[in-house]
Amino acid sequence: MPVISFDAVTKVYPLPAGDITALAGIDLAIEKGEFVLIMGPSGSGKSTLLNIMGSLDVPTSGEVTIAGKRISGMDDDELTLMRRDHIGFIFQQFNLIPLLSVVENVEYPLILKGRRNGSRERAHEVLRAVGITESHFTHKPGELSGGQQQRVAIARALVNDPDFLLCDEPTGNLDTKTGTAIMDLLARMNREEGKTVVMVTHDPRMTEYADRTIQMVDGRLA
Ligand SMILES: Nc1ncnc2c1ncn2[C@@H]1O[C@H](COP(=O)(O)OP(=O)(O)OP(=O)(O)O)[C@@H](O)[C@H]1O
Ligand SMILES: [Mg+2]
Repeated sequence: MPVISFDAVTKVYPLPAGDITALAGIDLAIEKGEFVLIMGPSGSGKSTLLNIMGSLDVPTSGEVTIAGKRISGMDDDELTLMRRDHIGFIFQQFNLIPLLSVVENVEYPLILKGRRNGSRERAHEVLRAVGITESHFTHKPGELSGGQQQRVAIARALVNDPDFLLCDEPTGNLDTKTGTAIMDLLARMNREEGKTVVMVTHDPRMTEYADRTIQMVDGRLA
């Protein structure tokens, strides 16, 4: 059974100047353990697709199934639980909380889940796994390099042991060398930890990391 499936999914944004169709009928299945890239021009619907996969957003019509559960009819609380239990997000802008230390940022999803017990040790474990050394644990995100901040964001995404990682241009703010190191890390999480990875990128060099590349054009799969 696919870990994510889309059946005739559309997303329409009603705007005063006229509706915008961001997704125009998407059929898609992502299997457990796959590493899938999503590419396509700006405005083609990549982030919209990823946000719906991550239940950050809901479709206008069509059916989405995540980890065996249909998301249509779920209320906000159920969508939140779905995100917390199954999904790790990694964004271009890292989205770390500036006032929390590195380790507190990583621990935060566990605290939200009410899992204070052992949360500090778990945060240390995933930080080490992504290559952040102890000396940085108490720093604030702003004191780290971009590549280090993205590693911390990956640690935060992994801390709950999600089924899959959704990455929206995770190397978009990084130089080539650092971006390659982050791609290597995500590929290792896919290969060694069995994490399903879906990644939006503009960088054609990333295709060598992926099992499959999906091209989007005007809200459709090309
Ligand atoms: N909240 C919103 N309200 C209205 N329109 C939106 C909203 N979010 C996205 N859109 C529109 O939906 C379309 C798809 O946007 P989306 O962000 O998914 O594109 P993208 O492929 O991720 O582009 P980029 O490569 O620039 O990040 C665009 O036309 C965009 O303007
Ligand atoms: Mg986008």
